Amino acid sequence: MTFFKPWIAAAVFVLAGAAHAQTAPLYQSLGEKPGIAALASDFVDRLKANPRIGKMFDNIKPAYLKEQFTDQFCELSGGPCKYDGETMKNSHAQLAIDKAQFNLVVEILQGTMDARGIPFTAQNQLLAKLAPMHREIITVE
Ligand code: HEM
Repeated sequence: MTFFKPWIAAAVFVLAGAAHAQTAPLYQSLGEKPGIAALASDFVDRLKANPRIGKMFDNIKPAYLKEQFTDQFCELSGGPCKYDGETMKNSHAQLAIDKAQFNLVVEILQGTMDARGIPFTAQNQLLAKLAPMHREIITVE
């Protein structure tokens, strides 16, 4: 009887594969935590650089916002994270955001994902999860 049992190695391999498959496909397509952190960082930089809405982000620490987006996108995509920031309603209540501004932010996120080579289907899946937040975020006509 040898110590190495090929069937045990095979079973470990199969179980490891099964455990990996449990993390959501969208989370994987976004590049898991490192990919999402890089996306969030790039996204905040682009928001701040935007001539139409960049100034709105002057009073929030970019590093904090990057962290919040990372946790939020990670959790929404099925990753092992928990968003613990403010609610979308509270954090945007005083900003008088209209539909055009909301659409612009979505467009900037889409452009950021495109630039980072995130597959089109994954882009759409993430945007579909964010779209319903318009009800909490848009407060003016
Ligand atoms: C789907 C769209 C959006 C999502 C998912 C989103 C998400 C977030 C998150 C997670 C935070 C951090 C909340 C916290 O303080 O813990 C935040 C804050 C903020 N968002 Fe948004 N946001 C969206 C749209 C917008 C739009 C359209 C604007 C303005 C044009 C905007 C401007 C801001 C600003 C200025 C803050 C910082 C508020 C503060 O000073 O605390 N957001 N957002």
